[in-house]
Amino acid sequence: MTEKVVLAYSGGLDTSVAIGWIAEQTGAEVIALAVDVGQGGEDLDTVRNRALACGAVAAEVVDARDEFAAEYCMPALQANALYMDRYPLVSALSRPLIVRHLARVARESGASTVAHGCTGKGNDQVRFEAGLAALAPEVVCTAPVRDSGMTRDKAIAFAEEKGLPINVTSRSPYSIDQNVWGRSCETGHLENIWTAPQDDVYGYTEDPATGKPADEITITFERGLPVALDGAAKTPLEMITELNQLAGAHGVGRIDMVEDRLIGIKSREIYEAPGAITLIAAHAELESVCVERDLARFKRQAEQRWTELVYDGLWYSPLKTALDVFLAEAARHVTGEVRVQLQGGRAVVTGRRSPAALYNYELATYDTGDMFDQSLAKGFVDLWGLPSKIAADRDRRMAASGA
Ligand code: ARG
Repeated sequence: MTEKVVLAYSGGLDTSVAIGWIAEQTGAEVIALAVDVGQGGEDLDTVRNRALACGAVAAEVVDARDEFAAEYCMPALQANALYMDRYPLVSALSRPLIVRHLARVARESGASTVAHGCTGKGNDQVRFEAGLAALAPEVVCTAPVRDSGMTRDKAIAFAEEKGLPINVTSRSPYSIDQNVWGRSCETGHLENIWTAPQDDVYGYTEDPATGKPADEITITFERGLPVALDGAAKTPLEMITELNQLAGAHGVGRIDMVEDRLIGIKSREIYEAPGAITLIAAHAELESVCVERDLARFKRQAEQRWTELVYDGLWYSPLKTALDVFLAEAARHVTGEVRVQLQGGRAVVTGRRSPAALYNYELATYDTGDMFDQSLAKGFVDLWGLPSKIAADRDRRMAASGA
């Protein structure tokens, strides 16, 4: 029986060439799998037909946009996930979803092998392969670009020789990966880290410096999840998509950073995530009203660890799974509304209210109505400072005796 390989297919040059390349090198039949995570661009029928025209025996396209928004972006929001305090994990979130579908199609079709188009220099290879190791350990994973010499020049020559229906000259100078949570752009002039990004790197946001008047929006959260925008109920996908438009028009969520990849290289990346950055700002603000102080302090550590695990390709790991349970519990009272002003590249919270608020006006106020018993503070403060006071006394004593 002919072996089957399921290839994670994007429709671009590399994975289009990989179809015939894998077939030639291994004699296997190639099944192309394209997953829509809200990357936009071509419609999925075009992508499917190209896969077949490039020699795939079958092509499956999956509209996974709702699944991606609800099961991958929403957990990232609950974790306020920002790698190196800035990057909202855009690509790192889509890989585990693609992996889940690769494993499913491999099982359904009886394929022994799956393939991806990643190079050996990035994080995505790790995310694919560590994910597959967890979900489908019986399946072998191959990477033609990394492992069998499918360089860019050879890919173009291959495409021309076989007359593949791909436009090899209209390629962007950048390596772009996008989905509903955001867009990443690297290579080209960005590899000089002193060079400012040219306008053509941006796809999700407008120039923040246009002087446009502010837009004000209200986001409603229930248990840490955004459920309505300006009072109208939204699914996670609708919420992110609409905020990408609204906040993107004000240039919110542009990020220019030098990033630490898992494999040890530093790389310059331009991200755009207008919806994600707006939602994280609003969500974190509501948490500060509704989450008790010790829980909030500990959650910051859990968030950081969650974010690193996901960045590092360990979505399907025991620690990530356990932290998910913690994050869900920590979200229990994060219910309420946040008002956000969008302008000049920033999403600024200007108001918050919640039926589960721990903010207590009678305790906080300096006006009449103050219920806080200030006489309790004196003894507390004395005891709080006591260990340091004792230590300082000891230091003085020992200095005086010359010890
Ligand atoms: N550096 C980012 C990450 O590791 C983005 C990767 C984008 N991938 C791409 N093929 N352009 O999450």
